[in-house]
Amino acid sequence: MIITLTVNGQEKVHMITPGAMLVDVLRSAGYTEVKKGCDTGSCGVCTVLLDGLPILSCSYLAAKADGHEITTIRGMEKEAAEFSEFLVGEGADQCGFCSPGLALTVMAMKKELKAPSDEEIKHYLAGNLCRCSGYEGQLRAIKKYLEACRG
Ligand code: FES
Repeated sequence: MIITLTVNGQEKVHMITPGAMLVDVLRSAGYTEVKKGCDTGSCGVCTVLLDGLPILSCSYLAAKADGHEITTIRGMEKEAAEFSEFLVGEGADQCGFCSPGLALTVMAMKKELKAPSDEEIKHYLAGNLCRCSGYEGQLRAIKKYLEACRG
């Protein structure tokens, strides 16, 4: 089947099999910044934004994304680089494998929740696992980043 995806502002047509998952379609199309970890919807490494909301692309049929806007970490390079400085500042950058998915989820959270509590942040990020278990550092970095964004 044929679908159209707008990825980071660029519209492209893709020929896919009906059961293809979005992560595989994106990676085959060259968006290798979308990572694949558990491939079972458990780790959050494959997170992309679909119309601005975080989804797990390993568990999302590409066919369902037809006609929608996808944002990968490359579509938010400036914001991700700014956020990354806060991760580094708190020693939470570690291996970096989860960082793109984490950053995209934080960007979506920033739009949705103006001044989230620690519990709200933890709840929002519950699907983004860190194999280095840098959660405390991530929480400090996220709080400082959100504070800086609010001015
Ligand atoms: Fe998609 Fe782990 S690779 S949730």
